[in-house]
Amino acid sequence: MHTKTLGLLAALGLALGCSSAKEEMSPAKTRPFFWSTATAAYQVEGDLHGTDWHQWEYQPDGGEWPDGGGHIAGNDHADKGPDQLHRYEADFDLAKQAGSNAMRLSIEWARIEPTEGRYDPEAIAHYHRVLKALRDRGLTPMVTLQHFTFPTWIHDVNDGSRGYGGWAGRDGDGSGQGGVVSRFARFSGDMAKEFGAEVDDWITINEPFVLVAATYVNPTPERFPAAPYPSDLVPPMEGVNLGLGVRAAVNMVHAHARAYDAIHAQDTVDADGDGKAALVSIAHHMRVFVPAGGDVAAAKAARQLDYVNNDLILNAIVRGDLDINLDGAFDGPGEGQGIAALKGRADFIGLNYYSVSKVLPFTVKNAAGVSIAGLPLEDDGAAYPHSDLGWRIYPEGIHDLVARVWGTYGLPIFITENGVADSADVMRSKFLVDHVEQLMKAKSEGAQVLGYTHWSLIDNFEWAKGLAPRFGLFTVDYATQKRTPTKAVEAFKAISQAGGVTPDIRARFGK
Ligand code: BGC
Repeated sequence: MHTKTLGLLAALGLALGCSSAKEEMSPAKTRPFFWSTATAAYQVEGDLHGTDWHQWEYQPDGGEWPDGGGHIAGNDHADKGPDQLHRYEADFDLAKQAGSNAMRLSIEWARIEPTEGRYDPEAIAHYHRVLKALRDRGLTPMVTLQHFTFPTWIHDVNDGSRGYGGWAGRDGDGSGQGGVVSRFARFSGDMAKEFGAEVDDWITINEPFVLVAATYVNPTPERFPAAPYPSDLVPPMEGVNLGLGVRAAVNMVHAHARAYDAIHAQDTVDADGDGKAALVSIAHHMRVFVPAGGDVAAAKAARQLDYVNNDLILNAIVRGDLDINLDGAFDGPGEGQGIAALKGRADFIGLNYYSVSKVLPFTVKNAAGVSIAGLPLEDDGAAYPHSDLGWRIYPEGIHDLVARVWGTYGLPIFITENGVADSADVMRSKFLVDHVEQLMKAKSEGAQVLGYTHWSLIDNFEWAKGLAPRFGLFTVDYATQKRTPTKAVEAFKAISQAGGVTPDIRARFGK
């Protein structure tokens, strides 16, 4: 089961006249196509001990993996990872060597604000040095403000009575929203003010839906950090609380919307000269869902998971349509359409694409009537190529999802992640060629695509799966910290120089 991303869940029509007005406004007309790679602070930096993930890694009684590890496979720790805190300059040399002109990375809230209300000047100076190192190498930064981790003063997983309870926490300030919402908005605005002269492209939250599902709707050892909570299913299932998941998702969309406003208010400097001071979105994990088997129930289950995983969050932040009980209608308590506090809060859509899930009909529900109708499994047909993690490789999916998102929302699309776990270095080049080719097909059909980001620049800490999965364009020997290019580095360079996949590139790298 693709549990990291989905847990149990995982889970325009413009008239011609309008479209030309839209094109005039389009960032695609005023900026170069970005060929980018990505990392996230917790996965690469090390020394992030003030976070919920650090607490989680060291909880002695995790004991969920069969190998005797705690919450992390192999009992791995992020501190044993690639040490980018001290090696960022050499790593950005590699990004340049690979031919990229942009880089997506995150800044770590816990490093910058280790206790509530007190920013650490040295941490801020560090990230200024990091951003300067990117600019010095001609790499335009895209900055993520939350990539799966929280400071423990927001989310204390050792003691659920402390902090603000993370994304699922309730009422920090009498607004009915979690205390995290206003604090994340304040942090985002402050970061936009601090770094706005160096950064124009902002991601507020990485993969909101994955984070919800992996934390609160996940009965497997790959769970993300949370203080213990009971199941609210009828009958109960350990690790699954749909109410907490829904609460987290609602807090997230409000936090994103308020952060969007704060960033636009505070980042008034056009750092890259394209006429826009800030472009803000989320990085949204999208998948293809196929029914497992030909029966009606499987088809229905696949449709619901597709809706919940792919559409729900985008509907909220683009259209202001909030569906809390996941039934596709907007008529329940707290639900609505065109909600002004949410609507119109995406300047582009950041799209993370990896794979396809097959869906078994399997219904779970809670007493409040929230229900999920399908169980996502790895699409493991022997006929398909798969990554080291068992994820089916399905390049057509990137085309189909980009075309669909463009057709549905009419916003420019930035591929904010796409990559493959491939420790033997036998799949990555072809994976890259096939996916970029499919992306460019969607672009040539009319979708506005601003850039392509490969996950990841270097091998890193793959959350609950530890250090074993190898996603890097450059592989890392964790004993020596030596970086070695995979074969795909040359493919990435050729693609970025050519602006896509030429017949020659396909012949050289696409086999
Ligand atoms: C996440 C990354 C992760 C990658 C590969 C994405 O879901 O944003 O943090 O490492 O997928 O699993």
